[in-house]
Order: sequence, then structure tokens, then C-alpha cells
Amino acid sequence: MIESTLEQLCNLYTDLTSEEVEILKNVSSTLQLYADLNNAYMFIDCKMRDSEHAIVVAEAFSKSSETIYENSVVGKIVFDSFEPGVFYSYRTGKKSLNSHAVTQEGKSVDQSVIPIKNKMHQVIGVLISEKEIFKHLPFSDSHKNVSFGQEELSAIFSGSPNEMPMISDLLMEIFLLTDKNNRLIYANPAGVNFITEMSQMNEIRNQNILELLPFIQPIYDFKEDVFIFDLTVDRKNLIVKKVRMRDKEQLKGTLLIIQDVTELRTKEKELMMKSVFIKEIHHRVKNNLQTVASLLRLQMRKGFPEESKVYFEDTLNRIYSISSVYEIILANTDADDEDVNIIELTKKVSSTMVLNEIHKKINLIIQTNGNKILTTSRKAVSIALIINELVQNSLKHAFPEDSHGEIEVSFYSSKDFLELHIFDNGVGISKPKSSLGLEIVHNLVMNDLNGEFRYLPVEQGTHAVITFPISSEVVIYYEKENTDS
Ligand SMILES: Nc1ncnc2c1ncn2[C@@H]1O[C@H](COP(=O)(O)OP(=O)(O)OP(=O)(O)O)[C@@H](O)[C@H]1O
Ligand SMILES: [Mg+2]
Repeated sequence: MIESTLEQLCNLYTDLTSEEVEILKNVSSTLQLYADLNNAYMFIDCKMRDSEHAIVVAEAFSKSSETIYENSVVGKIVFDSFEPGVFYSYRTGKKSLNSHAVTQEGKSVDQSVIPIKNKMHQVIGVLISEKEIFKHLPFSDSHKNVSFGQEELSAIFSGSPNEMPMISDLLMEIFLLTDKNNRLIYANPAGVNFITEMSQMNEIRNQNILELLPFIQPIYDFKEDVFIFDLTVDRKNLIVKKVRMRDKEQLKGTLLIIQDVTELRTKEKELMMKSVFIKEIHHRVKNNLQTVASLLRLQMRKGFPEESKVYFEDTLNRIYSISSVYEIILANTDADDEDVNIIELTKKVSSTMVLNEIHKKINLIIQTNGNKILTTSRKAVSIALIINELVQNSLKHAFPEDSHGEIEVSFYSSKDFLELHIFDNGVGISKPKSSLGLEIVHNLVMNDLNGEFRYLPVEQGTHAVITFPISSEVVIYYEKENTDS
């Protein structure tokens, strides 16, 4: 089988499926037509696997058009900072129009980008059309640009070059320009500081950059004219952008834009360490709770008065409810995700209790009413304990042995409040005499959730309601209606 270049590049550098590559091949078969029709350059770019960059997988250009690109660009890497339109379409799935976009070869073009999507409407590539802007054409304001007003800016500076600093003088980034012999002909203040610090030389003007900064050598040796490198030098993390400027094939000079991202990388590492540390603490809390539960179970097996058994079981259930919170946090795939999904927690806590009640046939219904509720581990522990006590009460007191019935847990939300209803169709509470269970519920609802706990009058069974305010610690998303049982 003969593979096309597009197919080869996609297989080598992207995660696209063969079906998606077929879609791109179909689009690429029409590129030449559109290039001829519009007198334009046409490209297809695709995002690269495990990388922030994209790669050109197909191109076509009209024979009669002026050459924007000296050489074929198929197989070239495309960077976000040089081609924002391409990445805008990738991110948003929308069309991008840039007048005066600058190509990676330094030419000014009118660029249109549209996303190419698969059957699931995911962006698999972008189709780009570029036309060179001729100098005699007036500045067109018809399209909104990523940067605009170049004419006005150059007019300001060309009038009084000595009165105002160059823009690059005001930037934090290091700007360096070398001539065709690699001699330093421009450095902004950040650049001067950087070079004097790294080279320990005071006289840097017109010096060879490769002698001043020997670690730049591989960047200058690298054959691509436009490239972004990540460098680590003397514990400094640098992002170096290189742009070679050519007149036809002749090298005129090289522009280096260097960003010192050491502080950023250190902060990233600190944040990562912090989230790993917090995760480790959650692990330990969960393991310690399991140890306490095992000790209690061991004590139960050692034999003790039958009437104490129920207290041990209640305590085990409470410990299990708290440890469910940590199990949910630890199962979150996102390492930084500290939030607990309350619906998931409710299902976990109440279904385990119902399954343990082997002498009764209980139908458990959890009604989310479209709510997805996320909260902090502290509030989640309180909610888990409240659900544990109330569902446990329904299981224990509402239905006699060998009977069957229904327990429903539902969530209702308004703009400011969340309501948690626990209802059973059992014998009902005649006169609630508060024991430890209801005392726990009262305390947690009042002190931890700043809410209210009450029983609603019902014809049959028991209906408990907890109402508490939605705060920054309790976030609610509305989802499609669903009922689980
Ligand atoms: N859903 C219910 N159906 C019927 N009676 C209930 C229900 N919920 C509570 N009760 C009554 O209210 C009383 C108080 O409940 P509470 O949870 O405070 O104590 P408990 O369940 O007896 O013991 P524990 O302290 O272990 O929870 C119970 O003993 C029971 O008589
Ligand atoms: Mg109870």
C-alpha cells in the first residue's frame, strides 16, 4: 500500500484515526482547486501528539500567485505564538480571520482559518488560506486582527526615534538581534542584563553571540528558520524563540526572544508538590479510619454482651461514611480535584447500608432532580454523616423485620438554598425522642452547614428535610434530569 505524505505525517506525528485521516485526505484533494480559485496559499495543519504545537500536513499554491513561501512547508512545525489563528480555530472550533497575520517566514498575509471536524464534531485539523498583502494596498480594517494599528505605531516611532524607547525596551522578555555573522547588533535592557550576567563580560556590543552565550550554539546550528526551544542553563529555565530573517535565500540576521520562566516553573513544581502532599494526607486519613474500623471489628469478634453489638455497628457505619468521602476524593482522576460529588457520596453511603440490611427488602431511590453538587471534604463529611444517620433510622425503625418498603433521598435546589429530603413509607415517627443519632444530625446541620433540620408532616412514613445555603463551598451544576434507584 502506498501511503500519501499526509497519511505518513498524520501517522507519525498525530493521534488521528484512519477514518479522520481519510476526512483530511478528502479535503486535501480539493486544495489545489481552491488555491487556483482564490490565488492563495492553502494548507492543512494538525495538532501534534503529546505537544502544544501543530504540523503542516498538506499545501497547495496557485501558480500565478506571488511566492510567500520560498520552500515547501509540509512537515514544518507550527507554533501557537507565531500562528495564533490556527490555534484559535483548534481551541474554539470557530473560523478565524486575521488581516496582517505574520507567517513563520516573516511575511504579512491575510489569513483565514476554518476547523475541519470529525463525525463527533471534534476538530481534527484546520484548513488555512493565506494571501500576501501587497505594500501598495491600503490597510484594510474589514477584519479584526490579533494585533492592529501597525501603521499608526510605526508613524509614532518614525517621527521621533530618540524621544521614545522602542517597544522591546519596555518588555520583560529578552530581545536580541544578531547580524549575518552572528554579531550582537541589538539587545533590549533585559537582554543586556541577561548577557552581562551569563557571560560576565561588560563589552557585548558587536560581539559574537556564540562566544557570549555558548549554550545558544545548538539553536543557531538548528536548520529550521523559525523554532521554539526549551533550555535549562545554570538552573535557569528559558524559552527561546528563534526567527531567522532572510532576503531571498540570503541570511540577514537572527532575532532571539528569550523568556526566563524559572520562577514560573518553580511555582508549578511547588503546586504539584502541594497537591501530591494533600493527596497523601487523604490516603493516611482513609487508612487510619480503616484501622480504627478493623480494631472495632476485632473487638466485636472477641465476644461482648449482645446489647452492645448495635452500638458498635452504628459506630462502624459512621466511620464508613466518613471514609467514603476520602475514597471519592482519592478516586478523582484530576490530582488537584479536592471536591466531593455529593450525589456520588449519597449513593455510596446509602446503598451500602441498604445492601447490609439482609432481612428487609428495601427499594432505595435517589432523585438528583438534575443537580450535580460539589463541595469541600469538610462539608462532605458532615453530609455523609447526616445521610448515614437518617437512612439508618429509616432502615432500623421504619420497617419491621421481614417487611419491605421504600426509602427516597432527593435533592432540590433554588438560587440560594439546597434541600436534602429523606423520606420513607414506614411506620412513621410517633414522638421523636432524640438519641445520639438525631443529636448528631442537629449539630452538624446547625454548626457545619448553617442550615435547618425538620420533619414534615406526612400521611404515611417519615419525611426529614435539611435546608442549607449554597455558598462558595457548595457548588451546584444543573444536569439533565435523571432518577436512579
Ligand atoms: N424513619 C423513622 N421511622 C420511625 N421512627 C424513627 C425514624 N427515625 C427516627 N425514629 C425514632 O426516633 C428515635 C430517635 O432516633 P435517633 O437516631 O436519635 O436514635 P436511634 O436511632 O434510636 O439511636 P442512634 O443514636 O444509634 O441513632 C428512634 O429511636 C426512633 O424511635
Ligand atoms: Mg438513629
